[in-house]
Order: sequence, then structure tokens, then C-alpha cells
Amino acid sequence: MAVTSWPDLLLACLFPLALLALGCGLFQSTTLSDVHDLVSLKSLAKKTGLFSLESALKSYASYPSLARNELARMRKSYSTLSRAHKRVGYNLGYPRKLDKLQSATDVNSIVTNAIADLAKAEFDLENSTSGSDANIGRVRESLKHFVRDWSEECREERDRMFKPILDVFRKIDVEERSGHKVLVPGCGLGRLAWEISELGFDTTANELSYFMILAFRFLLSSTTTTSSNEHTIRPYAHWFSHQRTVDSVFRSIPFPDVVPRLSSRFNLVERDFLTLSAPPTPPLHGYHNITTLFFIDTSLNIIETIEHIYTLLRPGGTWINLGPLLWSAGAQAKVELSLGEVIDVAEAVGFIFDHEGMDGTRGSRTVDCEYTADSKAMMQWIYKAEFWVAKKPK
Ligand SMILES: C[S@@+](CC[C@H](N)C(=O)[O-])C[C@H]1O[C@@H](n2cnc3c(N)ncnc32)[C@H](O)[C@@H]1O
Ligand SMILES: *[C@@H]1O[C@H](CO)[C@@H](O)[C@H](O)[C@H]1NC(C)=O
Ligand SMILES: *[C@@H]1O[C@H](CO)[C@@H](O)[C@H](O)[C@H]1NC(C)=O
Repeated sequence: MAVTSWPDLLLACLFPLALLALGCGLFQSTTLSDVHDLVSLKSLAKKTGLFSLESALKSYASYPSLARNELARMRKSYSTLSRAHKRVGYNLGYPRKLDKLQSATDVNSIVTNAIADLAKAEFDLENSTSGSDANIGRVRESLKHFVRDWSEECREERDRMFKPILDVFRKIDVEERSGHKVLVPGCGLGRLAWEISELGFDTTANELSYFMILAFRFLLSSTTTTSSNEHTIRPYAHWFSHQRTVDSVFRSIPFPDVVPRLSSRFNLVERDFLTLSAPPTPPLHGYHNITTLFFIDTSLNIIETIEHIYTLLRPGGTWINLGPLLWSAGAQAKVELSLGEVIDVAEAVGFIFDHEGMDGTRGSRTVDCEYTADSKAMMQWIYKAEFWVAKKPK
């Protein structure tokens, strides 16, 4: 199989664990206020480490060669079989299966090269050969996020997660929506934020990792994406585990099912959520609503995250959360709390939990959902994610 190390194995099976070392990626810059400010973006990127622009660009650009190296290792392992076993392998078509992996990575490379080329053009960067390390695991995870957020394949996965959240937004009068400012921190590839903006809300998507940002930009740019399902990837090719057939390993997934664009009511802010400030919208400052999806457990300091959500909201504003508690900053997280403790912190910070439509204790409810799931795999990982709506008092 393509997985060669334990960290890689984790990356391959659970994206949140890919954020294991997120702490290293946090940065403190407060200079960036304009997404298009290339100068500060460049210097900012240098400070972001693992999830920096340089590191992401280098990883996307190196995907073809990294994948080739990995395949070479697999061919080498195969070559150490005895002659008799090689004959069995040959009869199974195993060498052909390895050739198919090469074709699959060629297909994926069309997308990863285009992501890298767009990034070079938009950020005015050259191919970087030094500095940050390329990381193929994160590139593969981003490919899976195209599937999670922007393919027909994962429609069901999305519907389960998005419905409780979007239902709260749908309750608001259509005429009132355009004035409502909504923030989606840690938006990943941005589908939820996009759906909220499509309902008519003034939505800000926010993301820190350039692995996500560059992939999202590839969808947002009219130089790279113009029509639905124009791109194809083979996102499952890199992991031979849990597959019933060779065909399902190498199956193609088209994307995006719809083409997203930035607009006056949909913008992307590329920086650490903790450095954001409340939008000045007199007479009250702050966002009307903040929606966190599979986000809060990536925090290095969950207390700071909750406090910051509170600070960014206007009085009377709401925090809508859905996600598990997989403390993915790992050993770097300052505290790793239980659900009860998280709710205690939120209440101590000042939030009031909304009990309407909730069946759990203290105003939350459990939603079974998956994360970048492969519907054909022999393995299923279900999160008992918690959903709640909490209010900052007027
Ligand atoms: C587990 S992923 C979830 C992504 C997306 N919400 C989804 O459900 O597909 C968490 C995301 O939060 C981002 N993130 C973590 N800490 C952040 C921070 N301080 N500011 C902005 N984004 C952050 C990570 O880069 C990652 O993309
Ligand atoms: C950057 O890499 C691309 C291929 O990935 C190559 O065509 C191009 O010449 C390189 N540019 C520089 C300045 O090295
Ligand atoms: C958003 O916040 C406003 C107050 O700022 C509140 O009236 C509204 O119910 C909230 N919407 C959601 C979807 O929570």
C-alpha cells in the first residue's frame, strides 16, 4: 500500500489528525487586512510554517514527483517477492495495478499542477526549491476535501451536517438576510460558507491553511474553473486499504458540482481566526452569527477560541457549532476538554445555550456524520458530532 509511515497513515485515514501539529502553523501577524496585499502575504506566509503558502505551493508542485517516489518504493517492495509469489502477483495483475496508480496520479497531477500554477500567478511567486518541506499527505487530504465539499459523491455527507446549520439560517426572513454578517472560521474548502451566502447572508469564509486556501482559490478563479464537473480526480488511489475492488480504488470523481465565486456577499479572509476583529457595523459591532463546523477541536487553546468567538459576535448574536471533539493539536493543545467542560467554558464566557429543537443536555444535540468518507470503502468512521446554538446576551 501507498502508506509508508505512521503519520502518513493517520493523514490517510482521518483528516483532523492531519492537523496534529497545527500549533506550529499558528501565526500572530496583525498586519494583513487585505487579501490582495501581496507584499504582506509574502512575509506572512514565511511565518506560518507547516501550513504556509510556501509549504503548500511546494507540496502541490511536488505532488507528481513525490507520488512517483512512493510508487517506486511500492514497486521495489513488490520486486522483493520470491519468483513463485511474483508469479501469483503477476496472475493477479498486481504490476498492472501499480501502473494504474501511476495513471491515477497523472490524473491528479493535472489538478495539483494547476493549483500550483495559479498560486504562483496570484501570489507572484517562483518555484520554491528551498525552505519548507513538501508534504504529499496534506495534498492528498485536500483532494479529498474537493470530494467532501464540492462533489455529488459526498452530497449525503454534506446534507447531514449542513441541514441543522442551514435550517437555523433559513428561519430568518429573506429581506433581513443581506444585512446579516456571518463568519465561518476554519472553512476548509468553503462549501458551508458558500451555502450560507447563497441563502442571502453577507458571509465571510476564513481559513489559515494554504493547503486549503490554494485549493479553494483554484475553484474560485475563472482562469482555472469555469463549469461544473470540469475537473476529475482519483482521490482514493493512494490508499489500497479497505477496498473491495481495484476499480473502486481508482475510480474518478468529478468536481465541482457547482462553481463558487467570491462576491459582495461572499468573501474569503486568509489568516488566523484569532487575529480577526469584529466588523464595525454601527450601531452594534460584530458578526451577527459565527458558524463553526469541525473547527473548535483544532484549537491550541479552546478557551481562547470560545472567548474570541464571543468577542467577534455582536450583542444578541449567535454561535452555531457542529463537530466532534478530536483534539487535533495533539500534545500541543493546552487543554483537552470533554463536551461538558466545553459547554461549561462557553457558559462561563457568557454564552446562553438555546434549547429549542435540542434533545441533548444543556441545549445541544448529537448528529451522526462522516468526514471525507469513501462511500465504497470497507471501513466507516462515524462521528457523533455535537450541534448547538448559543447566544451572546444583548
Ligand atoms: C477539521 S478542518 C474542517 C474544515 C471545514 N470546516 C470542514 O468541515 O470541512 C479544520 C480547519 O480549520 C482550519 N483552522 C484551524 N485553526 C484555524 C485558525 N486559527 N484560523 C483559521 N483556520 C483555522 C484548519 O486549517 C482546517 O482547514
Ligand atoms: C517552475 O516549474 C515549472 C514546472 O513545474 C517549469 O515549467 C518552470 O520553468 C519553472 N520556473 C522556474 C522559474 O523555475
Ligand atoms: C443571527 O444573529 C441574530 C442577532 O444578531 C439573531 O437574531 C439570529 O437569530 C441569528 N441567526 C442564526 C441563524 O442564529
